Amino acid sequence: MGESTLAVSVSVTATLALGLLLYLQGVEGATFVIQNQCSFTVWAAGIPVGGGQALTQGQTWSVEVPAGTRAGRFWGRTGCSFDASGQGSCNTGDCGGLLSCQVSGRPPATLAEYTLTGDNNLDTYDISLVDGFNLPLKITPSDTTCPTVDCSSNITANCPTELQVVEGCDSACAALNSPQYCCTGDYVDNCPPTSYSQYFKGQCPQAYSYAKDDNTSTFTCTPGANYNIAFCA
Ligand SMILES: *[C@@H]1O[C@H](CO)[C@@H](O)[C@H](O)[C@H]1NC(C)=O
Ligand SMILES: *[C@@H]1O[C@H](CO)[C@@H](O)[C@H](O)[C@H]1NC(C)=O
Repeated sequence: MGESTLAVSVSVTATLALGLLLYLQGVEGATFVIQNQCSFTVWAAGIPVGGGQALTQGQTWSVEVPAGTRAGRFWGRTGCSFDASGQGSCNTGDCGGLLSCQVSGRPPATLAEYTLTGDNNLDTYDISLVDGFNLPLKITPSDTTCPTVDCSSNITANCPTELQVVEGCDSACAALNSPQYCCTGDYVDNCPPTSYSQYFKGQCPQAYSYAKDDNTSTFTCTPGANYNIAFCA
């Protein structure tokens, strides 16, 4: 009888622990489902959570992001080739030549950015063209009261000549490297929009068009929502 009481108590403890784990994951963490709707392979990437994975047309990749993850981002890479050890390179979004990213991608890359606060504050998410554009991208929260954010224009197709690169449209900062476009030097505190940032804003009004874009580009959702991120939706 003593053994079976112990067994019951262990099992109750395990059930409580599992319940607590599910509660924490369900309420505060989030599942991000990355989906490739492009007609070509995209090498998805995520930091500080995710790493990276090749996605053929229609394929999805599910990433569990813990509560409290700040300044997270997902993006897609194009034109990649990797060897069996996961080393190689990509035409856009390359992260130091690794399949599984540990650092940000090289511009141009359309970014899906998020912060899961992990406290009682709202989660935030946005699409950013601050590092330029390589793929149309759409963020859809599972909580339908939270806004869907979409950058569906193929900016590569009508990119200003001086920003054109292979398979993408570079940011003015990356292509022209001047303080006015990078909001550095004399422009740190006062960095008005330029014709380039206005061009990006016109293409994708919901996305961040440059480093000091206004607050209309950040969106919020109640903690507990999950997110779908689709390329070429
Ligand atoms: C965007 O346009 C470029 C240039 O015309 C093309 O090569 C690329 O396939 C297009 N991307 C998508 C997602 O349609
Ligand atoms: C909105 O802009 C203000 C002032 O520029 C800034 O302090 C604040 O952090 C911004 N909010 C978000 C959510 O980015």
